[in-house]
Amino acid sequence: MTKPVILPTTAVLRSQLRVWRDARESVALVPTMGALHSGHLALVAAAKKRARRVVVSIFVNPTQFAPHEDFSKYPRSLEADVEKLESVGADVVFHPGADDMYPEGFATTISLKGPATAGLEDKFRPTHFQGVATVVAKLLLMVLPDAAFFGEKDFQQLAVIRQMVGDLNIPVEIIGAPTVREDDGLALSSRNAYLTPEERAIAPTLNASMRKAAARIRDGESFDAALTAARNKITSSGFELDYLELRDAATLAPVTGRYRTGLRMLVAARLGRTRLIDNIEV
Ligand code: PAF
Repeated sequence: MTKPVILPTTAVLRSQLRVWRDARESVALVPTMGALHSGHLALVAAAKKRARRVVVSIFVNPTQFAPHEDFSKYPRSLEADVEKLESVGADVVFHPGADDMYPEGFATTISLKGPATAGLEDKFRPTHFQGVATVVAKLLLMVLPDAAFFGEKDFQQLAVIRQMVGDLNIPVEIIGAPTVREDDGLALSSRNAYLTPEERAIAPTLNASMRKAAARIRDGESFDAALTAARNKITSSGFELDYLELRDAATLAPVTGRYRTGLRMLVAARLGRTRLIDNIEV
């Protein structure tokens, strides 16, 4: 396969898109912040099956990080990313500068309710989804793809984007792809690179505890008992837990009672200075 071309501005992206549209070629978008791993590459491979052309955006979006978060140390590896993308058939990498995305005088943001206010990530990162939704809306409107691909690892993000695209009638199919995991169950994340070897050994406890709790719930145990046991296991392993919650998979609303289909378990926890998130179907 040929190496994807890096397009550094909206203007050059638009002229490339015009050529493809004139040739009636379908286009898929995979928005990323770079530091690509096999999870991202699986999204690109799926996008390549869906559309003739695939645009991968790489932009570490400043507006979705709070001032105390890891924006400046977020891993950046453009050259290695582009090499990885060659193997999965991405056509172009859209890599704009912050001044292209947010020029002087930029003053518009997307305001969200619904899944964005479910009391999960939003409780700990109150401005995060506004930044995500605004940049994703911009990317979708710049590319106007037939389909856009997002990982289920950021489950609340995916719900927020689906809601926004529906509410604003953005003409794109949003496709969620399953989380890619290490052999020991740890969900792939660019932030895993921050883990020390000791923390890396503990990290799979997060997914293992959720899987155990899900099995207990499916066996008829009460939500509270199963979640409390999982929370205790996670904290006694060395994590500081932000949340471990069971929610309706479609609305992210809290659930009560006993097992039924359509449940999702979501977790966020800090291990040293690294914050990890994960979720599973119950
Ligand atoms: O999931 C991510 O990497 C980011 O939140 C996204 C969707 C690329 C927006 O910056």
